[in-house]
This record gives sequence, C-alpha cells and structure tokens, in this order.
Amino acid sequence: AGLRVGVDVGGTKILAGVVEPDGAIAAVAVRRTPPRDSSVVLLESTVAEAVEEVVDGREVASVGVAAAGFVDAAGERVMFAPHLPWRGEAVRRRLAALLGAPVHLDNDANAAAWAEHRHGAARGSGCAIAVTVGTGIGGAVVLDAGAGPRVLRGRNGMAGEFGHAQVVPDGVACECGGRGCWEQYASGNALVAFARARIGREPTVLDDWCGGVADRLTGPMVTDAAAAGDLVAVQAFTHVGGWLGVGLANLVAGLDPDVVVVGGGVSAVGDRLLDPARAALARSLVGAPHRELPPVRAALLGPEAAIIGAAALGEV
Ligand code: BGC
Ligand code: NA
Ligand code: ZN
Repeated sequence: AGLRVGVDVGGTKILAGVVEPDGAIAAVAVRRTPPRDSSVVLLESTVAEAVEEVVDGREVASVGVAAAGFVDAAGERVMFAPHLPWRGEAVRRRLAALLGAPVHLDNDANAAAWAEHRHGAARGSGCAIAVTVGTGIGGAVVLDAGAGPRVLRGRNGMAGEFGHAQVVPDGVACECGGRGCWEQYASGNALVAFARARIGREPTVLDDWCGGVADRLTGPMVTDAAAAGDLVAVQAFTHVGGWLGVGLANLVAGLDPDVVVVGGGVSAVGDRLLDPARAALARSLVGAPHRELPPVRAALLGPEAAIIGAAALGEV
C-alpha cells in the first residue's frame, strides 16, 4: 500500500497532491516556485517540502513529478526548462534520494494529457491534442489506435513543445532564448503583459489593485478583474484567446485530431478564454468550411490534471 503522490512543478507554483485510485485528489500543498535564477538545490528542496507536507509522515508508494520542462526519453533528466533552473539535471534520481521513495518523472503537459485521456475530456479519442495554458504553454499529443493511449514522445522525449513554436518572426523575446514563441502571445504571462502595458494609460481597476505599479500585476488579478467586468481585463482574455486559437489552428492543420483539450491554470476561466480561441480556430484553420472542426474542450480535471497524471506514472 502507501500513498500515490503527484507534484506539478510549474513556472509560478509547485502543487503536490495525494491522489486516490479513482483520480480524486485527497490533499494538496502549495509552494511558490523559486525564481528562475535560483539553485537547483533550492528548487528540489522546495519540491520535497511540498511533498512532505502533503504526505504528513504517512507511507508513500510512489511520487510522480510533472515538470514544466523538456524531460529526456528515459524519464531521468530535465534537459531544459525555460521557466526553471534545471539544465540536464538528474532530477528523478535526486528527488528519489531526497524523498526516500520511488519517483517517476514526465513533462507537465504530457502528464495532464494522460490524465485527461484516462479520466477527462479526451476520453475515448483516437488522437487528442492537449495544451496547458499557465505561465507558459505546454503541449502533448495522445494517440490511441485501440491498444491503449500513448503519449507521443519523439526522438528526444521532447515532442509536444508547441509553446515554443515561432508564431512571430523577430517577435517578443521568450524565456527559452528564442523570439516570437506562441507562449509569448497566448499564456498567463501574455495575459499579464497585455494588462501591464495598459496600466496608467487606460481606465482599469487593475491600476488600483497593483497600486499603479504595473510589475505588481498578477494573472489572478486579471482573472478577477475580468470577472468584475473590467474592460481592459476582458480584452486581455479576448486577445490571448485569439492567439490561442491561431496556434491551435496550426496544430489542427497538422494533426487533424478528434479533440483539443485546453488545461492549465489560465483555462480555469473557461469560455472567456475558449470562446475567442474557438472563433480564431474556425477563422484560421485551412479548409474550415470543408471539414469538421474538432471540439475545443476545457480540461475536465482542471488545473489539477498534471498532478493526477503524475501520480498515475507510478502505475505503469
Ligand atoms: C515549457 C514546457 C511546459 C510548459 C508549461 C513551457 O515553457 O517549455 O515544457 O510544458 O511551459 O508549463
Ligand atoms: Na509535452
Ligand atoms: Zn520560447
């Protein structure tokens, strides 16, 4: 016996949860992700702290780690992570030593997609594209030709990094070192950037909420302001949702999937993000009047999908 634990190591926060066999989350612990220029020791000890809090001294069967980065094909190392300090680090082995438990490692969006195929919005589909909209954009392709779902891995284990597809040549600088990456236009960071650029220029409650200091503005503030009807915040979602749909149109053009699932923290707002994405997808997809468009669904498991998928890594 023992607990199955899933940890989502994202660009903004680290979320650990105990996951029941039916996929329900029994307890969670949250930590703020240390800044990108922190040491890997600090990052890993913060992950361990979150796990230890949620475990609370009980026996652990396995810990699944869903990391916001490029995990190698063996599930041993995080080779690169635009929002985290890991560069080729043997994360699986080191966390196993820190926690004294078996650890499994995968990319966060892959873990979320796996959970959505198993228990959520992609269930039963032969080809699902999943994207997670959080600090950045994560992606995964799940294929099921009848023998059970498989996450497309690619040569390096790095398939599905759609967030860093270049959508604007010489565009906005990205944390990955590139320019014009999709996640610079359609992520939580993009949402905040849109709102920040309007502080002090256009009337918005966000001005007050961040004390006139644009740098203090956060994603949740934009979400709350949009819910309160603030025009700038509402426009931020329309803008980001539109860019999301353009990128999805490119993925759908390439893979012609049965379903597109959108998860991640920002997707919790639902149709405020997804309706403009659906509209842009229909506008941008090649041959749209001559084909069936895939449904664009909100992740059924919500922002916790990565934790649930990570915990399931121990079952296979
Ligand atoms: C990273 C991905 C990750 C995604 C979501 C991207 O910037 O490259 O590996 O899945 O953010 O966290
Ligand atoms: Na992925
Ligand atoms: Zn990038």
